[in-house]
Amino acid sequence: MAARVAILVSGGGSNMLALIDSMTGDHPARPALVLSNDPAAPALARAQARGVTVAAVDHRPYGADRAAFEAQLLRPLMAVRPDIVCLAGFMRVLTGEFVARWQGRMLNIHPSLLPLHKGLHTHRRALQAGDTEHGCSVHEVTAALDDGPILGQARLQVQPDDTAETLAARVLTLEHRLYPAVLRRFAGGDRTRLDLV
Ligand code: GAR
Repeated sequence: MAARVAILVSGGGSNMLALIDSMTGDHPARPALVLSNDPAAPALARAQARGVTVAAVDHRPYGADRAAFEAQLLRPLMAVRPDIVCLAGFMRVLTGEFVARWQGRMLNIHPSLLPLHKGLHTHRRALQAGDTEHGCSVHEVTAALDDGPILGQARLQVQPDDTAETLAARVLTLEHRLYPAVLRRFAGGDRTRLDLV
């Protein structure tokens, strides 16, 4: 039976779409749920248009009470009981307790060559650091932010005229190749690292 994948999003969901569109044919997984912390996230309508079940739990009423927010987030997740949870542009930090539930089954994509540039503004920081290479990483999620075993990376050469915006666009194109490729392998039981060049 195909592995059931829940995808957590906060924004436009271009990585989510790349994942959904990859899960066809002999792919070992299928999308079971797209879940957002923002009821207005454009990703939700895009997932719905693909026929995927969607849900949203607005994080704002919970303020700093992350445990209360996560208790609500768990409801739609437990309704579909996913085998794999993919964070795809999900911009809330999850507690260690929440992450521990999905230990070894939760993936994230991050727009840098981890362990470089954890957190936000990765493209600007890569330029400021004078990096000659930049890219994206897919990793298993652990309690520490943007940490955990790296399952795949895709890299590009930084050009002299690159800006944070051009880098963001070029890296996003790589993300759309890397994340589906890693998920396919992961869902099939292969956790060896994938490097796209
Ligand atoms: C992507 O670049 C993703 O790597 C990044 O947000 C963007 C979401 O775009 N994620 C993070 O920065 C997580 N810390 P998308 O909604 O079009 O997939």
